Amino acid sequence: MMSHLLIRGGVPLRGDLTVQGAKNSVLPILAATILARGQVVLRACPALRDVDASVRILQSLGCSARWEGADLLVDTAGMDRCEISDTLMREMRSSAIFLGAILARCGRADISAPGGCELGPRPIDLHLAGLRELGARIRERGGFLHCTAERLTGREIVLSLPSVGATENLMLAACGAEGITVISNAAREPEIEDLQNFLNACGGEVSGAGTSTVTVRGGKALHGCEYRCMPDRIVAATYLCAAASAGGDIYLRGVRESQLATVTAALRQGGCEIRGDGEGISCTCRWPMKAIRPVRTAPYPGFPTDAQAVLMAALLKSRGATVFEETIFENRYRHVDELVRMGADIRVSGRTAVVSGVEALSGADVHCTDLRGGAALCVAALAAEGESRIFEIGHIDRGYASIEGDLTVLGAQIIRVKQE
Ligand code: UD1
Repeated sequence: MMSHLLIRGGVPLRGDLTVQGAKNSVLPILAATILARGQVVLRACPALRDVDASVRILQSLGCSARWEGADLLVDTAGMDRCEISDTLMREMRSSAIFLGAILARCGRADISAPGGCELGPRPIDLHLAGLRELGARIRERGGFLHCTAERLTGREIVLSLPSVGATENLMLAACGAEGITVISNAAREPEIEDLQNFLNACGGEVSGAGTSTVTVRGGKALHGCEYRCMPDRIVAATYLCAAASAGGDIYLRGVRESQLATVTAALRQGGCEIRGDGEGISCTCRWPMKAIRPVRTAPYPGFPTDAQAVLMAALLKSRGATVFEETIFENRYRHVDELVRMGADIRVSGRTAVVSGVEALSGADVHCTDLRGGAALCVAALAAEGESRIFEIGHIDRGYASIEGDLTVLGAQIIRVKQE
């Protein structure tokens, strides 16, 4: 069944929303459940398409994973397989994160190599190099990776760039390695700290996450636990940008402002009033926004590449021009052509995009090209005159449990139209 979102723009937002749990925390945590003996209960787990894909991977490995209300219950006791089918790998590129955990548990793992995705090539060479340093033998043949490790041994690994996925994969493998692993030049994203907190709640001994040096004392038997993931800072950024785009006054509950500092700084420059009070963030925006200083994406604590598209969408009607520079992924301006269909003035040249504010946007039929690009179309549609129809929203469902539900709570006019 194909569905689309129907948005009537021009309505300022107003409301109070509890933000869903973080996709980029829950996915590595689901991979980490493979290391734990005993039931893991993930409280208020966001019901995302990528979570479904992870659940299907766990089930295909022989694990049990089922929902009980909003909680996801995982028990990996019955795990009796160590390969992930090509079909499941293709469904979610970040499934490579299962590699370290499967290898640590079974001494063997077979997966297909994740190829390119909508954001351009997404190599896992750093993951593989790190696993090899821990003692894994990895053969790549015909698009498949065959990994074996009689034993993994902790040691120091220096990442040549701070990859989020590589840091997490190596943390998981290191939990099953003998001795101490030190990951240097590790990525510092808050979700990595969330993974550390989960592993420690299961009896692991991991420290340093959130800094560039992560230390894992391996070989500890991990048990089940109950855990609640951190709130999703990118979903929060999306709704702050939605309020900036449409104007209004919103409160996002549960979100930590420190984790969103670069996004809130950009929105403040544009004219929004944003305040964190320890329990959430309030945001008041009277548009039009003003153009802001150049936005350059960078690893955390820099400006998140995942928030680039939604911030761009929030600035389409700003006074003046804003320059974006995307430094993380090669192909991350695919939303631009769709925004232009709504009347936006955006020029892309290589990794740079220049957004010049226009007087008005008009509702249009547009297609999602990727997860955050899809969210950006919603942000723009909220500020457009008339109705927009947003198609191929499966991309959005990968990371937003219910974007229409959330935006409705915030006062937007948005519905999901189901079509046969
Ligand atoms: C994670 C996030 C994603 C976010 C990205 C950057 C999850 C599930 N996904 O993706 O939402 O956009 O961080 O913040 O957490 N690279 C290599 N070799 C490798 C690994 C990465 O060259 O082995 C490069 C990538 O091509 C990219 C850069 O490193 O240019 C950053 O990638 P990485 O931090 O690994 O992103 P992901 O973990 O895939």
